[in-house]
Amino acid sequence: MGLIPPEIIEDVRIQTDIVGLVSEYVRLEKRGKNYAGNCPFHQERDPSFSVSPDKQLFYCFGCQTGGNAIKFLMLMENLTFVESVRRLADRAGIYLPDIERGSDNKRAAREEKAWKANALARDFYHNHLLNSPEASGAREYLAGRGLSEEIIKSFKIGCAPAAWDSLAVYMRGLGYGPGELIDFGLLTGDSGRNFDRFRKRIVFPVTNPQGRVVAFGGRVFGPAENQPKYLNTPETQFFNKSRILYGLEQARKAIKEAGYAVIMEGYMDVVTAHQFGVKNALASMGTSLTADQGKLLLRYSRDVYIAYDADSAGIKAASRGLDILQQIGCRLKVVSMPKGTDPDEFLREKGLDGWHKVIAGAQSLLEYKLNMAQNSKKDISDVIGEVLPNLAEIKSDIELEEGVKTVASRLSLSWEAVWGEIRRYREHTRKIWEKPDKIAKNTHNIFKSGKPKDALSRAELGILKVLVENPEKLNYIRSVLGDDFLQEPLYCEIYRVVSGHMDSGEFNPSRLLDQLEEPAAGLLSRLIMEKNEGIQDPDRVVSDYINVIQRNRQARKRMILMQELATAEKNNDIDRVNKILKQLQEI
Ligand code: GTP
Ligand code: MN
Repeated sequence: MGLIPPEIIEDVRIQTDIVGLVSEYVRLEKRGKNYAGNCPFHQERDPSFSVSPDKQLFYCFGCQTGGNAIKFLMLMENLTFVESVRRLADRAGIYLPDIERGSDNKRAAREEKAWKANALARDFYHNHLLNSPEASGAREYLAGRGLSEEIIKSFKIGCAPAAWDSLAVYMRGLGYGPGELIDFGLLTGDSGRNFDRFRKRIVFPVTNPQGRVVAFGGRVFGPAENQPKYLNTPETQFFNKSRILYGLEQARKAIKEAGYAVIMEGYMDVVTAHQFGVKNALASMGTSLTADQGKLLLRYSRDVYIAYDADSAGIKAASRGLDILQQIGCRLKVVSMPKGTDPDEFLREKGLDGWHKVIAGAQSLLEYKLNMAQNSKKDISDVIGEVLPNLAEIKSDIELEEGVKTVASRLSLSWEAVWGEIRRYREHTRKIWEKPDKIAKNTHNIFKSGKPKDALSRAELGILKVLVENPEKLNYIRSVLGDDFLQEPLYCEIYRVVSGHMDSGEFNPSRLLDQLEEPAAGLLSRLIMEKNEGIQDPDRVVSDYINVIQRNRQARKRMILMQELATAEKNNDIDRVNKILKQLQEI
């Protein structure tokens, strides 16, 4: 939290009323204890955005964004934590000593150092590719793939030397030690024995929207057996790939001009696309699309074309990511290229003319899903179930009507029948909004990301919920289960922070949220905001959850013992066998 003194942050928190702040951006109406309005972070027609004056929190049950006033302003105005506190302080008339940026925040200073190191590494790799005799193979490879020198320069593509320490030596000369280079993801190993992460690979530097180098993707070339094709910078404290789109820096202007973005699968696709003049192309980095990436795109355009290799099972795997993008307000179209070709190959074969044709023929996500579902010969109710979220969430009335007609004619249903399904779907989701506690039971996929899959996760999440509603239960839960009882890493993170906070003798959700990153902050906001319903008999609920967790623990222990038993039997280790049998009996 930098050098803004905690008591000033606390002051800002106390002086800022979240309802007043949010009202400057969103029309709020009183609903019971809370206020409701249309979420400013995703497009919606029915308000699922809720603000609690008691808790000083906001939460959207639609897009699952939540937090305190500082977070709200960060998201709304795209500010850092410190900037947001500063603005709120101004607003509340609190004097903030003017601290220079960079020194006011240790984390920001380190982040800046990471960017700088990455930029130096990028230049090192890029120069090596352009100038070193050793890189002639890499140059030939890229020329063989048809990349021009101009495009190589504009994407600052590089080549990592084959030696195990070229970059380490170079960076040491500039004053960077191995420890921090490991932190930045440039070296691997520990500080005793370490080597360059990227060796003998083509490297694609990855920048954030501000043009800072945050990561690299390294592709093998030439003979390279038993090696993954791509090696990427691991997620570090400075690099979170779910917030980055490869090529955005180069594409942002063209996206605005063209009025749409094209998302591709690979680095090579994006670079080739730009070389051919398709400058609104970018890629997610081998992961399914996230809401953060969608929000990034929404700053430039709502229309997003997906150009994945039709053969790669890419789109099917990406389907959840596509739904997420639609939910936050993107309008999606799916570009269909001949099976087995990616945009790189397609452009080389069919050129820009061919590209414009497939773009013009792109199908809406709805049509695309209808096709997929029909080809897989599911029955009508399954097909309807799959496309309903996409249909019911179309924001414009005209487009919705089009959509209804499409679905009706494809599935040979009447328009009325389809409208009926939409109404039911919407009523269902609205009811859920009115009874937020029911969210967990909802089966429609807009809330799926928050919905635990199995009994154990439900119990774990349930315990957390009981805990935030009844902080006094902490000691009991701890006495039975200890502190290390959660399996799901996200829940562990929340538990660690919540219990630590409660140990300090209070429970102030709004303050607590500053200590959590996404997605933990969003989930905790949800747990707190869902509270309205209340749990009637927390003691019973707790003991039910505890049972589930303990049973699961025992089952796991039993499984481990069974495995050990098998090994002991195989080794004829009678003593060990008996010991394990005894332990098993105890369970
Ligand atoms: P080319 O094969 O050179 O055309 O590269 P490409 O960018 O088209 O790659 P491809 O379509 O095979 O994969 C798409 C994206 O998935 C890549 O750009 C990478 O981000 C990611 N990816 C592919 N293979 C690997 C791998 O082996 N490891 C990791 N971590 N990511 C990969
Ligand atoms: Mn490819």
